[in-house]
Amino acid sequence: MPSHHNSDELIFFVNGRKVVEKHADPEVNLLQYLRKVLRLTGTKYACGGGGCGACTVMLSRYNVKTKKIHHYPVTACLVPVCSLHGAAVTTVEGVGSIKTRIHPVQERLAKCHGTQCGFCSPGMVMSIYTLLRNHPEPTPEQIMEALGGNLCRCTGYRPIVESGKTFCVESTICQVKGTGKCCMDQEEKSSLGSQEKLCTKLYNEDEFQPLDPSQEPIFPPELIRMAEDPKKRRLTFQGERTTWITPVTLEDLLELRAKFPKAPLVMGNTTVGHNIKFEDKFYPVFLSPLGLPELYFVNTTDDGVTIGAGYSLAQLNDALQFIVSEQPKERTKTFRALLSHLRTLAGAQIRNMATVGGHVVTRPRFSDLNPILAAGNAIINLISKEGERQIPLNGPFLEGSPEADLKPEEIVLSVFIPYTAQGHFVLGLRQAQRQENAFAIVNAGMSVKFEDGTSTIKDLQMFYGSVASTVVAAKQTCQRLLGRSWDDQMLGDACRLVLDEIYIPPAAKGGMVEYKRTLIVSLLFKFYLKVRQGLNKMDPKKFPDIPETYLSALEDFPIETPQGIQMFQCVDPAQPLQDPVGHPIMHQSAIKHATGEAVFIDDMPAVDQELYLAVVTSTRAHANIISIDTSEALALPGVVDVITAEDVPGENNHKGEIFYAKNEVICVGQIVCTVAADTYAHAKAAAKKVRIAYEDIEPRIITIKQALEHNSFLSVERKIEQGNVEQAFKHVDQIIEGEIHVEGQEHFYMETQTVLAIPKEEDKEMVLHLGTQFPTHVQEYVAAALNVPRSRVACHMKRAGGAFGGKVTKPALLGAVSAVAANKTGRPIRFILERGDDMLITAGRHPLFAKYKVGFMNNGVIKAADVEYYINGGCTPDESELVTEFIVLKSENAYDIPNFRCRGRPCKTNLPSNTAFRGFGFPQATVVVESYITAVASQCNLLPEEVKEINMYKKSSKTAYNQKFNPEPLRRCWKDCLEKSSFHARKKAAEEFNKKNYWKKRGLAVVPMKFTIGVPIAYYNQAAALVHIYMDGSVLLTHGGCELGQGLHTKMIQVASRELNIPKSKIHLSETSTVTVPNALFTAGSMGADVNGRAVQNACQILMSRLEPIIKKNPEGKWEDWVAKAFAESISLSATGYYKGYQTNMDWEKEEGEAYPYFVYGASCAEVEVDCLTGAHKLLRTDIFMDAAFSINPAVDIGQVEGAFIQGMGFYTIEELKYSPEGVLYSRGPDDYKIPTVTEIPEEFYITLVHSRNPIAIYSSKGLGEAGMFLGSAVFFAIYDAVAAARRERGLTKTFTLSSPATPELIRMTCVDQFTDMIPRDDPSTFTPWSIHVS
Ligand SMILES: Cc1cc2nc3c(=O)[nH]c(=O)nc-3n(C[C@H](O)[C@H](O)[C@H](O)COP(=O)(O)OP(=O)(O)OC[C@H]3O[C@@H](n4cnc5c(N)ncnc54)[C@H](O)[C@@H]3O)c2cc1C
Ligand code: FES
Ligand code: FES
Repeated sequence: MPSHHNSDELIFFVNGRKVVEKHADPEVNLLQYLRKVLRLTGTKYACGGGGCGACTVMLSRYNVKTKKIHHYPVTACLVPVCSLHGAAVTTVEGVGSIKTRIHPVQERLAKCHGTQCGFCSPGMVMSIYTLLRNHPEPTPEQIMEALGGNLCRCTGYRPIVESGKTFCVESTICQVKGTGKCCMDQEEKSSLGSQEKLCTKLYNEDEFQPLDPSQEPIFPPELIRMAEDPKKRRLTFQGERTTWITPVTLEDLLELRAKFPKAPLVMGNTTVGHNIKFEDKFYPVFLSPLGLPELYFVNTTDDGVTIGAGYSLAQLNDALQFIVSEQPKERTKTFRALLSHLRTLAGAQIRNMATVGGHVVTRPRFSDLNPILAAGNAIINLISKEGERQIPLNGPFLEGSPEADLKPEEIVLSVFIPYTAQGHFVLGLRQAQRQENAFAIVNAGMSVKFEDGTSTIKDLQMFYGSVASTVVAAKQTCQRLLGRSWDDQMLGDACRLVLDEIYIPPAAKGGMVEYKRTLIVSLLFKFYLKVRQGLNKMDPKKFPDIPETYLSALEDFPIETPQGIQMFQCVDPAQPLQDPVGHPIMHQSAIKHATGEAVFIDDMPAVDQELYLAVVTSTRAHANIISIDTSEALALPGVVDVITAEDVPGENNHKGEIFYAKNEVICVGQIVCTVAADTYAHAKAAAKKVRIAYEDIEPRIITIKQALEHNSFLSVERKIEQGNVEQAFKHVDQIIEGEIHVEGQEHFYMETQTVLAIPKEEDKEMVLHLGTQFPTHVQEYVAAALNVPRSRVACHMKRAGGAFGGKVTKPALLGAVSAVAANKTGRPIRFILERGDDMLITAGRHPLFAKYKVGFMNNGVIKAADVEYYINGGCTPDESELVTEFIVLKSENAYDIPNFRCRGRPCKTNLPSNTAFRGFGFPQATVVVESYITAVASQCNLLPEEVKEINMYKKSSKTAYNQKFNPEPLRRCWKDCLEKSSFHARKKAAEEFNKKNYWKKRGLAVVPMKFTIGVPIAYYNQAAALVHIYMDGSVLLTHGGCELGQGLHTKMIQVASRELNIPKSKIHLSETSTVTVPNALFTAGSMGADVNGRAVQNACQILMSRLEPIIKKNPEGKWEDWVAKAFAESISLSATGYYKGYQTNMDWEKEEGEAYPYFVYGASCAEVEVDCLTGAHKLLRTDIFMDAAFSINPAVDIGQVEGAFIQGMGFYTIEELKYSPEGVLYSRGPDDYKIPTVTEIPEEFYITLVHSRNPIAIYSSKGLGEAGMFLGSAVFFAIYDAVAAARRERGLTKTFTLSSPATPELIRMTCVDQFTDMIPRDDPSTFTPWSIHVS
């Protein structure tokens, strides 16, 4: 940290060690301090805004009043280091380490297979660890609550929750809900009557070390002494640009407040920190009263409770829980309403940081608590040097009117929340994109009081959040309803009045306008029902109850702890014990992930002289660059250079991919220049000062529709046709035509793209370290950009914190950009994309638009289908052509349609270039197929599953492109799935449920899958490996595949162990690099283990053949003896293994080929419940049957299937990218792009790896990396089923289409009813919407 005068010493502890920082800078947060100053890199950066939990650490503070130590989780990225004076920080390194002793939390997370890429793992460990410090024997609910603020993009959470549940008292060994038998102790019989046994034990609990809370580090006594010190004085920390002042008494605080009225009071810093990071706010002075005893208290009186402003929302939660447990129910309605929202507001970390005072004062438009506090007549107690005063929370204060605001010198001391009385009802309501840790789309706090003994309204209050720039009160509505009776007529009037009063303009920021309007009345309706129910409870004779079919409308979906079983083939008992193939072996790096010792790129220590790079990206979708003015940027401190297209020594446009924009920009987010500086903060500050003048160019093409209008394509059309489609249409009973839109998806790998480029002084060599799926590609692009032979460029890749296709091509672009900067400055370059830049620049899954025409008989037999697909490729070729080919080839899915035509073409638009994403077009295209099957079913009055069964491939057949295959495993998966999930019985039960529940509907769906791995170009399937045996017998294994979290290296070690007949422990796998294995192809297409496994096998077999004569001569000898002997006999102990690859091909002229090596089959069944009033859904149960053939590692394969399923489910339901009509991506972080959290996973989750034969692949295995993605669409179609039930009941029997994703908005607006009918609609031609769909 830079040196400054007049600064106090900042004293805190990290992992038991005292830190004395003499130059504490208020602008530095704990995450930066841990990583860069203390070099504790276990704590990760993944978003910087408190939204992902990757940076979770435990804070411990001593409370002088209670004399207790308070441990709580925080997101280090939002903790200013200056706020830590007197605190103890525990990071993952302090919990346990391989070097000393790993902690049971770390051990169990690893052994339960709760880590894949490992980037989220330290955060997960810290969340569970902190919970255990407070509750050594937690309940499963507490585990769920503790993990709600931690995102994981790989695992699908189930194994993480399971590792946490091993600490629960009610033993979690048994995973089968209520069956009374323990699944861990048994072997299940395989479904189809075969004698084969299935195993269910993915780990062995007996191996776990017990948790011994007495072994945890103690709180540093010095900090207790510091806290108790009566001579404590005000502290000041002076940074480079800002000053931080920590008062020690309330008086002192008020003094400072008067002196610095504009300085924020930094409490939880969850708003201040956010504003600084994302809104570019700058504050020269901060006041930090965190921990000031006068702000921490709960005071209960006869009228209500007063909560100190310093209380965190978590402490507020605990206090309210206690009061609710003590007080009669009717007094605590406001408290219970608050509690219901406190459970889902943000994640546990934010709830432990954010304070009551901060929440109330900031009055965010989305506030979950203020509407309830306002409805509950809460009062804010203010204090200043002038004295104290009270203001109501519900008046002009809440609306943000300046005259009602706090005076500059005032602070909030506390908030008073009155008790409710009989006949006073208070309720909180909310709907968000996902249930937990997501800002509300609309929320509300409502209260009503009645004249004694009547249902005549005496007082009514309604407050809505997220519908305007502040929380708004429906004052006039409430006023007009006074004196009215609480009945249906009043409700009708109330809805009309409130829609008049709260008008959301059609182009309102945030969009979803009609949905929000609908929610305004739907939430009001829920309140209405709840109150009617309450009145009925008070006096059933006087007040009739609500109809029984309406009852379930009142219940929010509970957050349940998931249960489930995972089944897989048992290893043949005759297999040698040492042979690990087929066993559920833990990920090779799992323990290192859990201890934070696994090194990712930005964890690598600084290289001498290194510079940080920040990007300047285009703000226009299509424009000429008139000028770039870098003068201001270059003048800033620490800035070394600005790099533009002019600085690229070689090709700036390599195969259509542009490194630095030159003369013209073709999308928002295109890299125009980069700034290199001594720190990232300096580089970023300077990047903001680069001035670029643009002149827009026409056309600006953003959507597929616009691209079609302009005939704008990236490549030619691809087509597959069989039979005679036109002829067949003439002989069918019915024809349906339709259109479907499938929006894109963000990879949201937890580790953003990161490059470390190190120029070498000799021979123009460049060394790059980066997380990529394709080091060869990086090497090619860097060599092209630098104009050097590829032999001068070395790319090293140890691991990536998730990739999912997003690190196939994009690292080459970013590598070239960094290498050019390194080349120009002559210094190493560290280029870490911030989450927002990553989401903007690297784009994601292709949005898709499809038109279909399907001809079928009334019995459901489909005779002909003609489908056209268009994908939004963005502005450069990337892999859009290949994605289109995959779509065309794979889109028949599991169905045998005799006359079938399928065409596809990628559109060129002015969006960032879309790229590979798990499934590579298949998950988008197959939604279309399943949708038209569903539409056919609807037309024929059949279940979709019946139409699927009728049209599914049943015997050895040929695909539409003439490739032979045997669908027997498909049939098995399909039948097993229907049978084992009890689909038909549950479907009946759901229908019964639906009859009894008007506002909640259940739906079920089963989707079958025929997926392919690999690529239809033979040379793409080749692979190589390099195996060295050292003289001590240890083995260094290298191959061309990249470890992305998918467990590839773990499987490769298993292969080598079997082939060399040595234990895994003798085999080391360090990294992938272009130096050791040249020209390796991408690790993608689900074939990493297939092809690299063969190459490793080949290398090992070569080595074994060399050792064979020696072994024969000394069969009783040890491995080490044989190796020593071989060396003595001058036998080479190093071998290259090679696999030529699957000999696939595709002739697009003839429209036929052996396009893929083999097929992977599967089926999944999902059951959901939908809330028709809000559009929320809950995934009740999922059953997956996946044809794994023989699984080399069932833990890894199940992890892939589950993780892909949850990622797919996110894609089809809640993940929604928002673009402006001008092509600006709005969703650039976890705040506005919602991937599934632990709350979204199925309550019951059953997964079976189905055994089949696949002689073509190594050990008869199959590649399962991508296949699970599409199975997530079962959730989409189950939602469809539920929505269809709602529509039928409302008399809407016509077939309808759902676009993907089926968001709460789409679900709600498709469940048409009196509320959607009453909202105002806008003529689309009269306004420009805030956001548009680009599919
Ligand atoms: C990732 C994330 C998710 C979130 N999710 C939700 C959500 O789902 N629902 C929701 O409602 N909110 C949500 N929030 C917002 C959160 O509730 C607020 O940011 C928080 O309550 C603010 O409290 P704080 O203590 O952190 O305020 P700070 O950031 O410390 O301060 C904010 C402002 O309040 C002022 N202030 C603080 N205390 C006082 C006081 N005692 N007297 C006078 N002024 C004071 C400060 O001067 C400052 O200007 C989320 C925030 C984050 C970061
Ligand atoms: S990096 Fe801190 S919460 Fe995401
Ligand atoms: S293991 Fe959780 S993000 Fe990769």
